[in-house]
Order: sequence, then structure tokens, then C-alpha cells
Amino acid sequence: MIKADNISKHFGKVKAVDNISFEVKEQENLILLGTSGCGKTTTLKMINRLIDPASGNIFINGKNIADEQPEILRRGIGYVLQNNGLFPHYTVAENIAIVPNLLKWDKKKIAGRTAELLEKLHLSTDYLHVYPNELSGGQQQRVGLARALVSDPPVLLMDEPFGALDNVTRANIHKEFKALDELKRKTIIMVTHDVQEAFELGNRICLMDKGKIIQSGTPADLLFKPADKFVETFLKDQRLQLEFKAIRLTDIWELLPDQHTKGNSTLSADTDVWTALENFKFVNAETINISKGHNQVKTIGFEQLMAAFNQYKNKQRHE
Ligand SMILES: Nc1ncnc2c1ncn2[C@@H]1O[C@H](COP(=O)(O)OP(=O)(O)OP(=O)(O)O)[C@@H](O)[C@H]1O
Ligand SMILES: [Mg+2]
Repeated sequence: MIKADNISKHFGKVKAVDNISFEVKEQENLILLGTSGCGKTTTLKMINRLIDPASGNIFINGKNIADEQPEILRRGIGYVLQNNGLFPHYTVAENIAIVPNLLKWDKKKIAGRTAELLEKLHLSTDYLHVYPNELSGGQQQRVGLARALVSDPPVLLMDEPFGALDNVTRANIHKEFKALDELKRKTIIMVTHDVQEAFELGNRICLMDKGKIIQSGTPADLLFKPADKFVETFLKDQRLQLEFKAIRLTDIWELLPDQHTKGNSTLSADTDVWTALENFKFVNAETINISKGHNQVKTIGFEQLMAAFNQYKNKQRHE
């Protein structure tokens, strides 16, 4: 759906983006991950023509965006700016209504859609007529998201949308983000410098450094088939937790003992190992059941789960 083909952008001597290529499939969530200054924002801005690349091409649905009017192009793209980018002299309602007004929606339609989004994003309608500086950082980011989603564009670009949040609030917003139906049908490119966030929300990750893509792949690819030392070092501190989140019960299914006792709480095999481990604590049980497909069920204990997890990791490393 989105394809960047050898794009570059230099600012004077700084190679902000240095000849990178990537593709995003329809309804996929691609993460641009990397440290400050590696070119993430510049890459994102080229996709909706806030910046034009010095060389290379970008295609959306097969059309070269260089041939499109920026204003028309942007109607199909929601953009959440780094630091939310709300207009300080516009109220929440006015900020959200910017695109609908450009599209000449009538007042009733705008109000209806705004109310619907506020509810989905858990923001009270009491805030409709306040200014952004009267909101907390987390509330401002929700308004930024509402503004990007209001016209239901097929493509969403998000620049560190949860950057300003503390860990607890961020974890809550991640859960909501994953549960939002509206987002499931969108093709999303999201920028972050937070490894956990990238692993939690991304189908695929492009890890960038100094304007280049060092590796692109699934979270498991980055963990178990790192392209080089840079990738390994980047993930090192949080490795174990990332592994727990990247591996699903279905991945380790064959390594789990084949036994079944009735009457336990049951998890789907699509669950990641991290969630399964938490489940032991949550239901305070010795064993839990895992179901796969229509009729396969296995009963496992904590130690059996850990053993299968470790075996799986060893196998991955030696493949
Ligand atoms: N308008 C500009 N003029 C000059 N240099 C720029 C401009 N925009 C970006 N740069 C430089 O290009 C490089 C990449 O910047 P960019 O904003 O894309 O980084 P980033 O990965 O988004 O960083 P951060 O995580 O801090 O937001 C940086 O070295 C930056 O200083
Ligand atoms: Mg940036």
C-alpha cells in the first residue's frame, strides 16, 4: 500500500535520510524505531509531502505521490505530529474539526463524529470547549489522535504519539490503541524511540541509525536474526521481556507436553508468553489450559511453559 524507493533527504551536510527503502502492506502497522536524530520524522514527513525527498520515490496504492497535489494527498492520510501539534488558540472541538471543515462537512456531521471519537478515546465531552494548554499531556495526545482519525483516512502516520506519557498511562493507552476497531482497518506507520512500544504495537519494525535502515523485519526477526551488532546492542537491555512478548504460545506449541485436564481457565494459543505468565499470577492457578484451533487443548504448568520457551529460543538461535 505504501512503498518508499531509495529515498534521501539532506539538510546541508547532514544526511537526515540516506537512501532508504521500505514497504507497508495494507492494514499493517510498521514502526520506525531509532535514537534521536536518526531520521524518523523526516521519513514520515516525506510520506505526506511536508518534505519532498531529494531523490527517490514514494508510492501510495501504486501512485507516485510526487504527481499528486499535497492537499489532495493529505486528505487520505491522518497525521499525528510529534508533541501533538495542536493549535493552541483553537479549542479541542475546533482542533478536531480542521479537516472536516476543509471537506465542507455540515456542523451536525462534525459534532456527531467528534462525539463518537471522544467516546472511543475515553475523553469527556466536557473538554470540547477548552484549549489544549488546559489539558494534561495524555489528554492532548488523545485529541491529536482524534484529529488525525476524524475523516477516517485509510493511512495513518504517527510521530511518537505516546512520547510524553509516563509508563503507566502509556501502557493503558497501548491497550486501548490495540483494541480500537478504527485502527485495525488502517495502514499505519508509527515512529518511536521506545523498543517496548515498537514490539508491542508493530507488525514489522524498521530499525534506523544515522539516516539508514539497519534492519527491517518482525519483532522476532530482530531478536533472533539480528542483522549486526548494532541491532543486538539496541535490544540488549530489554531482551528477556521482548522475547516473552514476541513469542506466542502457538510458536512453542509442539514443545509443550501433550496433556489435558478439564476445568482450568483457558487461553488462546495466539496469546504471547508474557501474558500467559501473567495469567498464572492473575488466576492464581497451578496450571492453565491453552486452546489451539477448534479442538486442541493442552494443560500446562509454569515450569513447563518456561522450559518450552527456553527450548524454543535455543532452537531459534541455532537455526
Ligand atoms: N529542517 C531541518 N533543517 C536542518 N536539519 C534538519 C531539519 N530537520 C531535521 N534535521 C536534521 O536531520 C536529522 C534527522 O532529524 P529527524 O527530525 O528526522 O530525527 P528523528 O529521528 O525524528 O529524531 P527525534 O527522535 O529526536 O525526533 C537530525 O540530525 C536533524 O538535526
Ligand atoms: Mg522526530
